[in-house]
Amino acid sequence: MVSSRWLFFLSAIFMLTNLAVAQSDEPLYHFCLYEKGNYTANSTYESNLNQLLSSDVSSDTGSNSGFYNFSYGQNPNQVHAIGLCRGDVDSEVCRDCLNRTKSLFPKLCPNQKEAIVGYDYCMFRYSNRSIYGVMETSPPFFLWNPNTVLDNYVEKFNGVLWTLMENLTSQAKDGGSLRKFAANNASAPQFKTLYALVQCTPDLSMDDCEDCLRGAKEAIPQCCDRKRGGRVVWPSCNIRFETYPFLDFTTDASAPPANNATPTGKGSNSSRTIIIVVAIVVSVVLIFWICTCIYLRMRKQRKKVENKLKIVDEINDTKSLQIDFNTIRVATNNFSDVNKLGQGGFGTVYKGKFPNGQEIAVKRLSRSSEQGNQEFKNEILLVAKLQHRNLVRLLGFCFEGNERLLVYELMPNASLDHFIFDLSKRLHLDWKIRYKIIMGIARGLQYLHEDSQFRIIHRDLKTSNILLDEEMNSKISDFGMARLFTLDQTQANTRRIVGTYGYMAPEYAMHGHFSVKSDVFSYGVLVLEMVCGQKNNYFQNGENTENLLSHAWKNWRDGTASNLIDSTLRVCSTTEIMRCIHIGLLCVQENMAERPTMALVLLMLNSYSTALSIPSRPAFLMHSIVESDMSLNLSFQASQNEGSMTDPYPR
Ligand SMILES: *[C@@H]1O[C@H](CO)[C@@H](O)[C@H](O)[C@H]1NC(C)=O
Ligand SMILES: *[C@@H]1O[C@H](CO)[C@@H](O)[C@H](O)[C@H]1NC(C)=O
Ligand SMILES: *[C@@H]1O[C@H](CO)[C@@H](O)[C@H](O)[C@H]1NC(C)=O
Ligand SMILES: *[C@@H]1O[C@H](CO)[C@@H](O)[C@H](O)[C@H]1NC(C)=O
Ligand SMILES: *[C@@H]1O[C@H](CO)[C@@H](O)[C@H](O)[C@H]1NC(C)=O
Ligand SMILES: *[C@@H]1O[C@H](CO)[C@@H](O)[C@H](O)[C@H]1NC(C)=O
Ligand SMILES: *[C@@H]1O[C@H](CO)[C@@H](O)[C@H](O)[C@H]1NC(C)=O
Repeated sequence: MVSSRWLFFLSAIFMLTNLAVAQSDEPLYHFCLYEKGNYTANSTYESNLNQLLSSDVSSDTGSNSGFYNFSYGQNPNQVHAIGLCRGDVDSEVCRDCLNRTKSLFPKLCPNQKEAIVGYDYCMFRYSNRSIYGVMETSPPFFLWNPNTVLDNYVEKFNGVLWTLMENLTSQAKDGGSLRKFAANNASAPQFKTLYALVQCTPDLSMDDCEDCLRGAKEAIPQCCDRKRGGRVVWPSCNIRFETYPFLDFTTDASAPPANNATPTGKGSNSSRTIIIVVAIVVSVVLIFWICTCIYLRMRKQRKKVENKLKIVDEINDTKSLQIDFNTIRVATNNFSDVNKLGQGGFGTVYKGKFPNGQEIAVKRLSRSSEQGNQEFKNEILLVAKLQHRNLVRLLGFCFEGNERLLVYELMPNASLDHFIFDLSKRLHLDWKIRYKIIMGIARGLQYLHEDSQFRIIHRDLKTSNILLDEEMNSKISDFGMARLFTLDQTQANTRRIVGTYGYMAPEYAMHGHFSVKSDVFSYGVLVLEMVCGQKNNYFQNGENTENLLSHAWKNWRDGTASNLIDSTLRVCSTTEIMRCIHIGLLCVQENMAERPTMALVLLMLNSYSTALSIPSRPAFLMHSIVESDMSLNLSFQASQNEGSMTDPYPR
């Protein structure tokens, strides 16, 4: 009697530790696949789904493999489901975790014919179609540790990671029809040890499992490049790596978990007695140890949740972003010249209209990217998740054959350069509107740099990439374009320089170094252009062809900055304008470190009490530098706009 109570107590404690570690109620991710259809209330599908969700996992299959496969009802209202637990968790924890996911669906995804919910320990998905044995790589979920690997170690770290993943992949795929899981550690530079796991749903064939894991591994550079930890989770497989042991790696993690919180009771009486006696002795010692562990791990977990991991917002659906080529061709009247809105470095933009009346702008990418489709898709999904009112919204994409198309919302007022550099239209841009535009760009850029989880560097910020909506709100376009192409990059350097002459920071134009501070430089040029109503690279000052930046600097230095203000601006107070000139000059400093971050720019724009530092001479990116560019023999891929690199000496 006593002993069985002890046993119960012991197993309860084990369960508690496990639960405390991984089972906060919030799921790690969930996807309601809206495009897969809704069911109606009180339908047969709903009752089948409820039956399936309320059935106890343990009553199905009964295998302790951590993989469950259910279906309920008859066609066409049959519901199919798959549950998968992480390979190392025991069946008790697994069941509890799956139970938890099932209870969430009605709340998280009401009326969805298909949905997925996942925790650290398990994943559960259901659908109205048969999903058994079908490899699926979307929707993807990414998660990473925001801390990075030191520059010096990145290459070696990646090498170790890659080898470990390869190794685990070949182990997992051979795992058999009940279990395709492998986990191990390897010694890594900077950190003593690198830990990783890979897992497929075991219903996949060996080849599918291998393909799936390869694909997930190839997604690492997109989500988790240089990160100390990361996960790529697809419906059919997932991978994870960390620099701390996130499961018990000391035992052979690839073997099925030593199951049994509840003893099977098949041993002889004497051996059972021995087990019980040992258990009592051990448990006394363990209780103290475990209590300490609970405390420490809970603390660690809280810390981990708070600062270590940033959870990527769900991508509600990936398929709905995909638009079929014919639809786009019809919408743009077969890409007719009449519908052409413009041409840029990355391709041609067409206006179009969907049958439902929605107006769209279609970017037809000019060069077939060297990236594979899956990678390209991953990139688009990342970019599609960037949503901010000062960014142009990506509505969808298409790639079929060599065609790669991006579909955006159409901005009725076209781009900023059409206004600010047009003598008559410029009159419509009073200072209030210009200030609103300047603020909007700053907010959008700050989001790209810091608030979004991807730290996007725009690299080609200029007036023609700022679009205006009906209310003259500014929206940045073409963000993430640099990411969508393979740019031959080694760390933060790129051999092919994308960008537009006149807006490029000197370190970028000359050496290909890009950073958020090169965007800040372009922003500074833009602000000065807004104030002066003049193009940086075509700036005319009487007889002299002078750079706008040097002109601005000279006037600032000589205390005549008010000369810079566009004469068409009639304003009472120039304080705000002068502050913008000041901030603009700070942004175009030659020394990157002296340029403010976008967060600081916003602070300076918003609050007059923020003191501004004194700018020194800015970088005059003009004739001399362009000449040395040529001798550096960099291959430029300039935007095809006027004033691009191909025509360095505007006359
Ligand atoms: C399903 O419902 C969601 C909201 O509940 C809605 O946004 C979506 O358009 C619906 N999908 C279909 C195919 O009706
Ligand atoms: C579904 O059934 C419930 C009770 O059986 C009822 O209250 C509800 O109005 C029904 N809903 C619909 C849309 O028929
Ligand atoms: C799992 O799915 C397969 C294929 O649909 C089926 O043959 C098998 O009976 C299912 N097992 C359970 C327990 O539903
Ligand atoms: C699953 O959860 C339900 C309540 O949501 C509970 O009644 C049931 O006992 C749980 N089953 C298991 C195996 O934990
Ligand atoms: C699942 O539901 C969707 C949307 O209602 C439907 O188009 C599709 O044919 C269904 N699939 C199956 C296998 O019944
Ligand atoms: C796994 O890695 C070890 C070295 O760490 C190597 O000896 C072994 O051959 C690898 N196994 C496979 C299947 O690649
Ligand atoms: C790494 O894994 C091996 C088993 O493959 C194990 O013996 C060793 O203790 C592990 N090292 C760490 C630091 O977890």
